[in-house]
Amino acid sequence: MKSFVSKLPNVGTTIFTVMSQLAAEHKAINLSQGFPDYPCHPDVTQALMDAVAAGHNQYAPMPGIPALRQAIAAKLALQHGAAFDPDTEITVTAGATQAIYTVIATVLHAGDEAIILEPAYDSYAPAIEAQGAKVVRIGLSAPDYQVDWSQVQAAVTGKTRLIIVNNPNNPATSVFSSADLDALANIADKHDLLVLADEVYEHLVYGENRQHSVLSHPALRSRSFAVYSFGKTFHATGWKVGYCVAPAMLTSEFRKLHQFLVFSVHTPTQHALAHHLQTPAHWQGLPAFFEPKRDMLAKGLEKAGFELLPSQGTYFQLVRYDAIKPGLDDVSFARWLTMEVGVACIPVSAFYANGQDDHVVRFCFAKQDATLQQAIDKLSVLR
Ligand SMILES: Cc1ncc(COP(=O)(O)O)c(C=O)c1O
Repeated sequence: MKSFVSKLPNVGTTIFTVMSQLAAEHKAINLSQGFPDYPCHPDVTQALMDAVAAGHNQYAPMPGIPALRQAIAAKLALQHGAAFDPDTEITVTAGATQAIYTVIATVLHAGDEAIILEPAYDSYAPAIEAQGAKVVRIGLSAPDYQVDWSQVQAAVTGKTRLIIVNNPNNPATSVFSSADLDALANIADKHDLLVLADEVYEHLVYGENRQHSVLSHPALRSRSFAVYSFGKTFHATGWKVGYCVAPAMLTSEFRKLHQFLVFSVHTPTQHALAHHLQTPAHWQGLPAFFEPKRDMLAKGLEKAGFELLPSQGTYFQLVRYDAIKPGLDDVSFARWLTMEVGVACIPVSAFYANGQDDHVVRFCFAKQDATLQQAIDKLSVLR
């Protein structure tokens, strides 16, 4: 069709689909995509069935059911020691992905610029481009993926409207310090920019590291949209429910688009999550649940000859493989490992628009211990 012009001519099948298909074809253990292979808590699945049986099957209110928004406000108060208004500052979304798209579409006009830090989660750039706006990329590098904020500052122009940050970062697994947040706040303040903070891995932070949220930083809170995912927090990625927290004026603009993108989100799931959130232990226990899995996989990878990069947060472990296959590019390495060794991972170059290849691959440890052990056994042939 001559009259049809693609808005995203360069977007194809994502590496996640490619690697998961390859893993299935070769019956490999799939540590590529970020999703658990164990059931979610019976408390939340039972609550979902109860909600359906109780007849909560019609449209929910556009911003989310009041019980869930109140439960989210109570959680935020516990986490940040501050009040959040469930009526004007919290919106329930169809996963973090819809929240991210809605923020970007709310903020950006054609010709605007948005800064992202790469390696970056793959939904940011296409959402920016679909608005006719320009993606401005700042590259971070292995091993620690620290942000050079002077580079961010230098990338700001008169057209910059938004900075997107992901903390903890997928795939880098790095976590912002409070100094990072101060630096971000200074730049945002100086140039009157909005911030989209993707904090879906907020609870998955290990050891001495702490998550410093934009919601705990008053200067950033006043100019940020912070997005979260119950899929990540409660091991239910298929439920696709998340939320966006932003000051009342920004939330009101966000909802103008939200209502025409989805109107409202799956009602019984909202009831189930409102119930499950009543017990803070369900999310407070996450680091203790994941840290042993991280350590188990890390030990197996190290024994197999991989060089571990620090995994401060998320449910991923990054490694360098140079000692195993020197010189091989990371996509070829990930394909080889899947087909010949039987363990699938993700090449980190896929998270850079320019394909920056530091010979690093990403493994997901949100798996049953038995799955991790099977992967470790297969990897042991590399020794
Ligand atoms: C950094 C990041 N943001 C957002 C999402 C999407 O979250 P959801 O499944 O709730 O849409 C993911 C999922 O992998 C992610 O890794």
